[in-house]
Amino acid sequence: MKHFTSVHDLGKLDEALAEAFEIKQDRYRYAELGRNRTLLMVFFNSSLRTRLSTQKAALNLGMNVIVLDVNQGAWKLETERGVVMDGDKPEHLLEAIPVMGCYCDVIGVRAFARFENKEDDYSEKTINQFIRYSGRPVFSMEAATRHPLQSFADLITIEEYKERPNPKVVLTWAPHPNALPQAVPNSFAEWMNAMPGYDFVITHPQGYELDPAFTAGARIEYDQRKAFEGADFIYAKNWAAYTGNNYGRVLHRDRSWTVDTEKMSLTNNAFFMHCLPVRRNMIVTDDVIESPRSIVIPEAANREISAQVVLKRLLS
Ligand code: CP
Repeated sequence: MKHFTSVHDLGKLDEALAEAFEIKQDRYRYAELGRNRTLLMVFFNSSLRTRLSTQKAALNLGMNVIVLDVNQGAWKLETERGVVMDGDKPEHLLEAIPVMGCYCDVIGVRAFARFENKEDDYSEKTINQFIRYSGRPVFSMEAATRHPLQSFADLITIEEYKERPNPKVVLTWAPHPNALPQAVPNSFAEWMNAMPGYDFVITHPQGYELDPAFTAGARIEYDQRKAFEGADFIYAKNWAAYTGNNYGRVLHRDRSWTVDTEKMSLTNNAFFMHCLPVRRNMIVTDDVIESPRSIVIPEAANREISAQVVLKRLLS
């Protein structure tokens, strides 16, 4: 594997899952693979889970790790070509990226959608510049349109917890005070659609339709209660509008979409999932996230495993 930005880079999912469970049995089995190799993690946006789990995965493989928070202590970076750099940005990304490549063997990048220009976001401008100019294998630690390390961890978790071979998995929109990118739901949709036999349903209010390039193959159900009926897994997430002139906007914060105990009672005793961080009593009630069927912590723990499979493949 040369780079990792989506499910399409991973090849056969059953083989990737087998690798994940092998690593989970003994996460130090490949502790020599990364010896004298350096991972550089570049963050344009904040993180708790991605930062810690990816670093831990690299350490399990024997790698050295450097972390760069672009907005804290590094020079402010210009990203556009042709700009007269007489403002507050002393360095251009087009020099900074190859320089970063000089100091490492693998680069992880986190660069969210900025909601300034839909085309820039959906062409994955930032991570593609790293792929083009760093000269190193690059992997996404959440880009503008996808969060594949999260989705891989989600899939590992579903495979661990499923109680029947072909589970019904429901991705539900839920309210949030801020405008959040579509990366997690886009990516989750791609990974669920790639699993043969999964019954995958997306439910959201009118106006929150996602890009069909990611969701094609999923059933869309605008009635959240109907979508929840018989579900084995409820995956909650907020996202801002994608379509037309509403791109990046919060259309409403309808709290009737919050996941609560009464709605969970419509399901097949479903497990509750969320990528975290989560806004309690906006996205999900305290009761649901604290219930025995909430698997948000094991889901987060599996971030170490998904990152380790990806790093192992990039090193190999
Ligand atoms: N789920 C996730 O990516 O968490 P962080 O934003 O804390 O990394």
